[in-house]
Parts: sequence; structure tokens; C-alpha cells
Amino acid sequence: MTPVLSDSYGRVATDLRVSLTDRCNLRCTYCMPPEGLEWLPKPELLTDDEVVRLVRIGVTLLGIREVRFTGGEPLLRRGLPGIVAATTALAPRPKTALTTNGIGLARVAPALAEAGLDRVNVSLDTLDPEVFEKLARRRRLDDVLEGLAGAARAGLTPVKVNAVLMRGVNDHEAVDLLGYCLEHGYRLRFIEQMPLDAQHGWRREDMVTADEILERLSDAYDLTPVDAAERGSAPAEEFSVDGGPATVGVIGSVTRPFCGACDRVRLTADGQVRNCLFAREESDLRGPMRAGADDAEIAERWRAAVAAKLPGHGIDNPEFLQPTRPMSAIGG
Ligand code: GTP
Ligand code: 5AD
Ligand code: SF4
Repeated sequence: MTPVLSDSYGRVATDLRVSLTDRCNLRCTYCMPPEGLEWLPKPELLTDDEVVRLVRIGVTLLGIREVRFTGGEPLLRRGLPGIVAATTALAPRPKTALTTNGIGLARVAPALAEAGLDRVNVSLDTLDPEVFEKLARRRRLDDVLEGLAGAARAGLTPVKVNAVLMRGVNDHEAVDLLGYCLEHGYRLRFIEQMPLDAQHGWRREDMVTADEILERLSDAYDLTPVDAAERGSAPAEEFSVDGGPATVGVIGSVTRPFCGACDRVRLTADGQVRNCLFAREESDLRGPMRAGADDAEIAERWRAAVAAKLPGHGIDNPEFLQPTRPMSAIGG
């Protein structure tokens, strides 16, 4: 068995994204309906020990070098600091990060830093409490801003901010969001909205494109592309702002796909490997694990799942179908 997760297009997955729960305390319109979703039943969720075992197999047997915990909202998972501590104790130690909506982050950031977490990415789509309520259907903007500040204080840096722009909702705030992030030392990335909402309401015509985002920012800032060689497999194209050193990123998943350089593999909260955000098939690791499979057998199943990865997401293909699971159950 090869000690790496490779596919038939020559890509190697070294970045593992683990969804710890499909639940969330916000209801962002680009993600979920107001009533939420039918959450995964508790017995189907991996336990903390099962998560740690799979992460260990990924790191020690399959060449995973970076681990990112996501959700839903991963801070809803009480065992998170313990899971992080067990991850950062592995040898070789993987880089360990978290993608969160920021609610409650101010309180747990010191414990997460203590557990060895390296950095966080926080979603922030607006600075206006009214727009926040419209977009996330909760009045929690202050909690998110406190979460960002708490993460920076705890040294979970660089703190990155993710903003999805939606036409007629928050797209007038691009320049303000960048101003706020520059002022606080956060690294902002704007994300094109992807067809991953549970309601299947995404329409390409409504999407604010990478070109539009850059045009808007250029009204107020002088942007210069950062050397493409520095990008590697990162989803964001980076631009230096007003001569640098600050940068802003654009994640153009739809109009500027980066699938050819993808180094990611995902594990859902119920223990399924997804070889792509948009995969139509998953491979079960939980079942075999609970039936007593040893590490080598689990690693072999995982390897086969990645080997079957398709070349790209195919959003432009007329036959494109949204994945059955929404973003909140896949893990961004
Ligand atoms: P770093 O750049 O390492 O900080 O992380 P990241 O940007 O990959 O992570 P984050 O969870 O903050 O994701 C930011 C955005 O990139 C989200 O909208 C993700 O859904 C999107 N994204 C992450 N991975 C992929 C991917 O494999 N394919 C596509 N198309 N988009 C992705
Ligand atoms: N398209 C693009 N980004 C999305 N996110 C959630 N849903 C979507 C979508 N449909 C973002 C969140 C978070 C990150 C993990 O993914 O805002 O920052
Ligand atoms: Fe929650 Fe993230 Fe979905 Fe918003 S986008 S509802 S924060 S999982």
C-alpha cells in the first residue's frame, strides 16, 4: 500500500478536513433554511475517540500533513479542545486549524491555543447588525466580532476571515469589510457562493463573481496579484493591498476553479470519506471501524476512496447535480 492518498490525476491529498458536527447556531441563507435541517442522529456521529483514531490513521499511515476541523459549527462540539490536543500530539505533528462562525470563540480560544491549535478561519459576511440578522437569521454579530478579537489575542494567527458576498444583501460592503480586516490585522478572503445550499436555491446569475469583487475593491484600494508560485494548492488568489504587506484573497471556486491543484480530502461527522466537496459518492469508514477493522484495513478503504477522485467539480457541466449533502453536513 502506498503511504500517500493519491488519485489518477496525479494529485496527492495531504490536507484533511474533518466535519465535527452538521449542526449550527446560525442559519446563513446560502447554507440552510430558517428551520434548520434534519440533524444526524447522535449514534451516527463519530465519537471523539473515533475522530482521533481516523485522524491518527490519516497522519501516521497516509501522509496527511494538515488537519482542519469544520462543521456545521465545530465549536458546538464539547470535546473539541481534547480532539485538537490529541491531533497536535501526533508525530509527525500536523498543522491544525479550525473554520468557525466565531460564536463562542472568544471564550474557548485560550483553551484551543493551549491544546496546540495553530490558527482559525472565521466567517464574517457583514459589519451591519441588520444585514447580519437578515443573512444569518440570528442577532449575533457582536459575538462574532468578539470571537475574532479573542482568537487574535490567543495567538491563533494569522486569523483569516471568510466573506461570501450576495447580490443585493451584503455586496455593497466589500470595501468596508476589507477596511475592518486591515485595521484589525485579519486576512480577508472573499468567496464566490457555491451551489451547496440545502435549499438548492443557488443560481449562477445571482453569484457575485471574483471579477466583480476585485472591481469593487479596486474603487478604494490598489490591488497587485501576489506571485502565483506562492499560491500552491490554496483556494485563495491573493492580492497585496496598496503596495502591501497586507493582502486580500479571492476564492473563485466557480469562475476560477482550482481543482487541478487540490490536495484535500474530507471526513464527514458520521465517518464518511468524501474525496471532493462536490463528490456524489462517499466511502464509509465508520461501519468497518465499528465492526472491528484494523488500522491497515481502514487506511486501505480511505486510499481507494481518494483514488476514485474525479478531475474537478463540474459546475459548468450541463449534467451537474448538487451533492446530496449540503455544505453544513460536508464541512466547508
Ligand atoms: P486555508 O487557506 O488553509 O486557511 O483554508 P481554506 O481557505 O481552505 O479553508 P476554509 O475552511 O476557510 O474555506 C474557505 C472557503 O474555501 C470555503 O468557502 C470553502 O468551501 C472553500 N473551499 C475549501 N476547500 C475547497 C475545495 O476543496 N474546493 C472548493 N471548490 N472550495 C473549497
Ligand atoms: N458557497 C460558498 N461558501 C460557503 N460557505 C458556506 N456555504 C457556502 C456556499 N454555498 C462558507 C462559509 C464559511 C466557509 C467554510 O464556507 O461562509 O466561511
Ligand atoms: Fe452555520 Fe456555516 Fe452554514 Fe452559516 S454557513 S449556517 S455559520 S454552517
